[in-house]
Amino acid sequence: MIDLHHGDCITKMNSMSDGTVDLIVTDPPYLMDYQSNMRVKTPKFEKIAGDVDGYQLIRDYFSECSRILKNNTHIYSFCSWHHVDFFKQEFEKHFNLKNIIVWHKGGGGIGDLEGQFSIDYEFALFGHKGRRPIQGKRVSAVFKCPKVPPGNMVHATEKPVELIEKMVLASSKPNDIVFDGFMGAGSHGMAAVRNERSFVGCELEQGYFDIAKKRIESASCTLESFFE
Ligand SMILES: C[S@@+](CC[C@H](N)C(=O)[O-])C[C@H]1O[C@@H](n2cnc3c(N)ncnc32)[C@H](O)[C@@H]1O
Repeated sequence: MIDLHHGDCITKMNSMSDGTVDLIVTDPPYLMDYQSNMRVKTPKFEKIAGDVDGYQLIRDYFSECSRILKNNTHIYSFCSWHHVDFFKQEFEKHFNLKNIIVWHKGGGGIGDLEGQFSIDYEFALFGHKGRRPIQGKRVSAVFKCPKVPPGNMVHATEKPVELIEKMVLASSKPNDIVFDGFMGAGSHGMAAVRNERSFVGCELEQGYFDIAKKRIESASCTLESFFE
C-alpha cells in the first residue's frame, strides 16, 4: 500500500486513527530559513516551507506522531545542531529518547570556514513509543553514509535512500506501515517500498510532491518487476 497526500501533514494525520503506523522516519523543516547554495549551473533550490516559523508545526507534529504510532514502535526525526535543544525537548514530551544518531555525511559542509570545525554531520533523534528491540546486530549510533552528490540532488535537503534504509531495516518488518509527514523528494518512501514496507507520506509543495510520487512509484515498480 502506498498512500501519498499532497498538502499539510497535520491535516492528513488528523484524519488517521490512533495506533495505525509501525514506524516513523521523518525529516521536518530544521527551522533555519535554509537557502541552499549548492547549485551553480542551474537555479538554486527554493527555501523550505515552514523553515522559519515552524515551531508550533513541530509541536503539533510530534503530538500527532505519538497518537498515530502503534505501541512498542520506533521514531527517527532528523534535526540540525542549531535547534537540537528545541527538537529534543518537544520529542521527549512524547517519546523515550534512546539516541541522538549522528549521520556522518562527509564533505566540508557549510558555515564559518575559518572559525568553525567542519559541519559534516546531522542529527536524528531516535526514540521508542513503549519499547521495541532494534533488529539486526548492535551497531554504532554514528551512521556513515555519503550525502547525495550535488549534481544528483532533486531537493535542497535530500537524504540518501541508503541512510533511511538502515533505519527502516532496524525498526520494521515487511508489510509494516512507515509514515513520513515531510516527504520532500520522497527518499523515505523509496527506502520503505524498496524493502517491501507500506508507506504513507505527505508533502506541501506541489513540485516536490510530484517528484516524490514519481520516485516512490518507480521504486515500487522496480520491486514488483523483480518478483515477477
Ligand atoms: C527537510 S525537507 C524533507 C526532505 C526529504 N527528507 C528528502 O529526502 O527529500 C522537509 C519538507 O517538508 C515540506 N513541508 C513543510 N511544511 C509541511 C507541512 N506542513 N506538511 C507537509 N509538508 C511540509 C517542505 O516542503 C519540504 O519539502
